[in-house]
Amino acid sequence: MTTIPIPGMLDPHVHLRGMQWAHKGTFASETEAALAGGYWAVLDMPNTPPSTIDRPALERKLAEIAAQALCDWGLYYGAAKADNWGTYPAIIDDVCGLKIYNNATTGNLLIDDQAIRAQHYQHWPRSKVIAVHAEDETMRDILALVRQYRQRTHFCHICTTYEIGLLRAAKAEGLPVTLGVTPHHLFLTEDDIKRLGTHGLMKPPLKTRADQAALWQALADGLVDVVESDHAPHTLAEKSSEKTYYGVPGLQTTLPLLLTAVHEKRLPLERAVALVSANPRRIFGLECPPDTYTLVDLGESFVIDSAWLRGGCGWSPFEGMRVRGRVRSVSIRGTQVFDGESVRVRPGFGQNLFGKR
Ligand code: DOR
Ligand code: ZN
Repeated sequence: MTTIPIPGMLDPHVHLRGMQWAHKGTFASETEAALAGGYWAVLDMPNTPPSTIDRPALERKLAEIAAQALCDWGLYYGAAKADNWGTYPAIIDDVCGLKIYNNATTGNLLIDDQAIRAQHYQHWPRSKVIAVHAEDETMRDILALVRQYRQRTHFCHICTTYEIGLLRAAKAEGLPVTLGVTPHHLFLTEDDIKRLGTHGLMKPPLKTRADQAALWQALADGLVDVVESDHAPHTLAEKSSEKTYYGVPGLQTTLPLLLTAVHEKRLPLERAVALVSANPRRIFGLECPPDTYTLVDLGESFVIDSAWLRGGCGWSPFEGMRVRGRVRSVSIRGTQVFDGESVRVRPGFGQNLFGKR
């Protein structure tokens, strides 16, 4: 058996739901999916209503996730269309970073006014990261702010040749930028939408084969800093309805997909591991706690099916794919929290990695 330990896996981009969207998933159900996916910790985005853009909404989310989380966690604060930068000093100690939505997506946090974006860049405390959703040309506007304010900025779900080119240049220029790519942009393309139907719809959307090849090249070059799942569950009923719900789950499938690429010699093992552990930890200034690691069996292959999936939504765009890498055990701070079959801790075991309280 070829079982290896991976220290402190961190997914810096998830939408765990809960609160007004608890029907899609709860902090308990989605952190169970995180453990089954091998993760020590997850960083949750602010777009689930009520959006995390003021102190009361943050308090509500902190209380709910603290009571339910099975793995360690952090919360992003959201930049609001109207002024909420005045609240930054009061919330900074409780969050992992700021998220700015610069293109339309699930939720109502879109900021398309460059002057408002600049206010957020000006006021955000420099101690923590700004993560941005910025597609295509919008990236140029954000890079201008990074250049002006020198704020550390993580570009989420980069997925085109053009975007990769902009970030390659930004890094060469010495700007304080990092980037993440998602498993769905690495393993699926727009050609899969015919087969997947609405299960292939997310923001940013699936791209061309040429774009996909650029992402793999950027992984090989070491340009990409993290692989982030962008775990965004919607129920099967929602996905089958008239309305379009953008987003796909991914917490449980990210590691086996990457290890499949390792097996196929498309990616060195050390790099795959770094993309889901040391690199995201470094960006967010997190140390791996003692005795915190995942044991994964590289030898075992299995087919992703709905019966295997944890979490609230019960489907995956990767169903039917044969993957390699079975999570055997997850330990956090010396406690075995997942034994390959069952969760072994109570809701509330997980800690806020950024909270002072
Ligand atoms: O497809 C997406 N779904 N993209 C996002 O940016 C948000 C996410 C969600 O929350 O559903
Ligand atoms: Zn997202």
